[in-house]
Amino acid sequence: MTSQISTLLETTPVVPLIQADDPAVAIEIARALAKGGLKVVEIVLRTPAALECLRAVAAEVDEVIAGAGTVLSAEQAEAVVEAGAKFIVSPGLDEGVVAVAKAADLPLYAGVSTATEVQRAYNLGLTAVKFFPASLAGGIPMLKALSSVFRDMRFMPTGGVSAANLPDFLALPSVLACGGSWITPADAIAAGDFETVTRLAREAANIAQAARSK
Ligand code: 3PG
Repeated sequence: MTSQISTLLETTPVVPLIQADDPAVAIEIARALAKGGLKVVEIVLRTPAALECLRAVAAEVDEVIAGAGTVLSAEQAEAVVEAGAKFIVSPGLDEGVVAVAKAADLPLYAGVSTATEVQRAYNLGLTAVKFFPASLAGGIPMLKALSSVFRDMRFMPTGGVSAANLPDFLALPSVLACGGSWITPADAIAAGDFETVTRLAREAANIAQAARSK
């Protein structure tokens, strides 16, 4: 699974967030994203129905690899593994979550924003981390500085990434992929406008593919 995710992220290094109150809507969003070319999706645990949404997408949308985001504790990590998550994303670094991900043999992108946190992640055996919140934590200059010392670490900047700054983040070789919610705007989803999601996904996929083919 790790290699399937890496292969997809290699060519299309963007991970859109899915936040939904209803599994049927989560399925529609996941299908709309896949149609636009984004096939690694992160379902965030920010609604009471999030686990159900994850379970539904994992079971019913073959076109995507669904992971879980905003995983805050070992208990939540266990729950998302059980619901079928293929990777785990956390806003911060927690050893309990790391242990669950390792036991389940799933990739974990734990959030870091300082050198000390990257070093802890490195010593816990993580080879890729989420850089969060990317714009506020120093953006590209900070990522360059971290990458110059943590030479084997890959980063997933998330938080303030948009179509406008995506090429700049992806120009850094240490960036595995960028994550974000700009592709799944809440107002479009509330209006049932999944075409907008597909359009934004396609735009992001095109930008990402162009950035990576340079
Ligand atoms: C996350 O959970 O990674 C962030 O909320 C994403 O940040 P964004 O909404 O600025 O993309």
